[in-house]
Amino acid sequence: MICGNRIRLRGVERSDLRKFQEWLNDPEVAENLSVYLPLSMIDEEQWFDGVSRLQADEKPLAIEVKEGRGWRLIGNLGFFHLEWANRCAEFGIFIGDKSIWDKGYGTETVRLLLRHGFETLNLHRIYLRVYSTNPRAKRAYEKAGFILEGTMREAVYRHGRYADIHIMSVLRSEWNAVPEGK
Ligand SMILES: CC(C)(COP(=O)(O)OP(=O)(O)OC[C@H]1O[C@@H](n2cnc3c(N)ncnc32)[C@H](O)[C@@H]1OP(=O)(O)O)[C@@H](O)C(=O)NCCC(=O)NCCS
Repeated sequence: MICGNRIRLRGVERSDLRKFQEWLNDPEVAENLSVYLPLSMIDEEQWFDGVSRLQADEKPLAIEVKEGRGWRLIGNLGFFHLEWANRCAEFGIFIGDKSIWDKGYGTETVRLLLRHGFETLNLHRIYLRVYSTNPRAKRAYEKAGFILEGTMREAVYRHGRYADIHIMSVLRSEWNAVPEGK
């Protein structure tokens, strides 16, 4: 387990897939993700079989929030495009439970993953892509220490129009310089 104050990250189980499918079929959740078609349980099972074969460092993690004496699944996240020679990785996240958006859980979760990436995996640069139509995510990433690095203009097509994709990143040196960010 990777543990924070209110959040913990654990391995994804097959039993999580039903929730992931429900959330990823919610237009509000999927709006700013690369998912743009309805997802069946067969799609989810195939995704799970695929990620089960990935190297341990690249396997997605389930996000759980503390609730009473237990923990409740709220989404998932993970590193991908890991480049070990460059010590660089991309990361992605979704919190499917909309009732807890805007309460700081996303920021806390991203900080937890950054700590894991820098202090356990020994990464040097962690980056992400976020659609210009997603100010909530951009704000959460900024709070967690990400810096806007560049823009891929009109790189995604949704609802009949193009949007920009922003690239944001954090370097290990920046992370080390902001202890309160951890
Ligand atoms: C993006 C996501 C991970 C953020 O998690 P979260 O728990 O909602 O984020 P936080 O509460 O930590 O931070 C959200 C911030 O955005 C702000 N915000 C919300 N809507 C906003 C808007 N329309 N414009 C500007 N800021 C906005 C919130 O007020 C909060 O900032 P504050 O703490 O300064 O008030 C989560 O909402 C999510 O998974 N969304 C659906 C999938 C997705 O978009 N994934 C990211 C793809 S790049």
